[in-house]
Amino acid sequence: MSRLTPISFASSDIDAIASAPGRVAIIVTPDGKMDKAARRANRLTKGAVARLLASDGFATGEPAGQTRVITMAWPAGMAAEALDVLVLERRTSVIEARRAGAALAKVKGDKALLVMAGGMSRAEDLALGLILRDYRFEAHKTAPDTEVGGVTIHHTKADELSLDTVRAIADGVVMTRDLVNEPANVLTTTEFADRLVEMQTLGLTVEVLDEARLEELGMRTLLCVGQGSDSPSKVVVMMWNGGADGDAPLALIGKGVVFDTGGISLKPPAGMEDMTMDMGGAGVVAGTMRTLAMRGAKANVVGLVGLVENMPSSNAVRPGDVVRSMKGDTVEVVNTDAEGRLVLCDVMWYAQERFKPAGMIDLATLTGAIIVGLGHENAGVFSNDDTLCKAFLKAADAEGEGAWRMPLGSGGSAYDDLLKSRIADMKNLGGRAAGSITAAQFLLRFVQDGMPWIHLDIAGVASVKGETPLAPKGATGWGVMALNRLVADMFERG
Ligand code: BES
Ligand code: MN
Ligand code: ZN
Repeated sequence: MSRLTPISFASSDIDAIASAPGRVAIIVTPDGKMDKAARRANRLTKGAVARLLASDGFATGEPAGQTRVITMAWPAGMAAEALDVLVLERRTSVIEARRAGAALAKVKGDKALLVMAGGMSRAEDLALGLILRDYRFEAHKTAPDTEVGGVTIHHTKADELSLDTVRAIADGVVMTRDLVNEPANVLTTTEFADRLVEMQTLGLTVEVLDEARLEELGMRTLLCVGQGSDSPSKVVVMMWNGGADGDAPLALIGKGVVFDTGGISLKPPAGMEDMTMDMGGAGVVAGTMRTLAMRGAKANVVGLVGLVENMPSSNAVRPGDVVRSMKGDTVEVVNTDAEGRLVLCDVMWYAQERFKPAGMIDLATLTGAIIVGLGHENAGVFSNDDTLCKAFLKAADAEGEGAWRMPLGSGGSAYDDLLKSRIADMKNLGGRAAGSITAAQFLLRFVQDGMPWIHLDIAGVASVKGETPLAPKGATGWGVMALNRLVADMFERG
């Protein structure tokens, strides 16, 4: 896994400012108030900080509410090569504190960093934001090992602060990002499963179902997606039993298409390379399970991922083929590029039959249409249960992960009717109109009566071309923090 920035808390010592190597960060308020450490830095620099605060640029600089860092290079009177002035209110929200940490990560580079955080209220969140924004995926860069400098955060109540939860969350997010960033020749279905099995060391129980077993179970819709590829299809089950014995678990289900060529309904070449991220749903399930295990969540949660590769070949499923799902319903595969739902429906059915979960949430980079509708700011949220859905939206909002509810019809609704097939129980594609909704509608047909369920279409948010508040370009890890919080809010005991 990619390395997390080494970070630690230490008790405040303003004498460290003068001699610290690398960079030193101090905090001032937007109305220009200095704390003790800022005043010391000001004295060392013979009033440079005060002159900055009094300048026109400081007062009128940036849109209010946005975190900013003003760098003063080679400050006189200090050993450091830069003094980073972080502009931040004394009381901040969780999200503001994380974004402040991220702002420091952006200017930090490879240098060691001393953050003089004073008594700030959300220093742990600042640390989390810093680690998440300092992420780099360098597994395939041929470069000499550069030493990345560590971060020390000085705080007046350092002994009351802990990085355990921060590390559990960061580790989960970073695992998801690594999986999503990994190219498909490296992250094959087998490699993916192996990485999940490794998580047994964290106390998770992990099972791998191979093709023979999936065939026995009747998961033909899942298997038909992978049958054109030399990589064997697999379903991996990760169990975390931190809750009471016998408590029905929450089930998390992920689409894990390690590469989506479209199959015989081949995608056009432009942008096809992005389809290495088509296992993003499975990546989020894996990262969330990691976080839950690392922080010892007092809840029962089971994560299931369907790992397949969608390739054209003489063995591949053809447009027009009819296959039978584990549930027993038949599906006419009118487009082999609408493969995600074929994978998910069997895994969802299996999860319900085996675990009788209290609720079920699936995540998938399912449709390009959700990007047309919501862009890269929000995942599409579809649900048959207002209570679970509202709880999720609240958790996502608290974590700063965009999520927007979309409509869903019942069985027999006009949306559902779009899936009617002439020769089978349904077809796997509704047509151009309401593409994301009909995909969700397809999945709804595999949700058992009374099962609270959320479908998250993360095609727009799993990996993006530009940087986001807490991530550099590429995989974001969207969803790990929201799901972790949902588990804490709704499924954890005591
Ligand atoms: N994996 C894609 C959806 C996708 C598109 C994810 C862009 C991330 C970015 C999915 O399997 C797919 O191919 N969907 C098709 C469906 C079409 C055939 C109805 C699409 O959205 O174009
Ligand atoms: Mn596809
Ligand atoms: Zn796909």
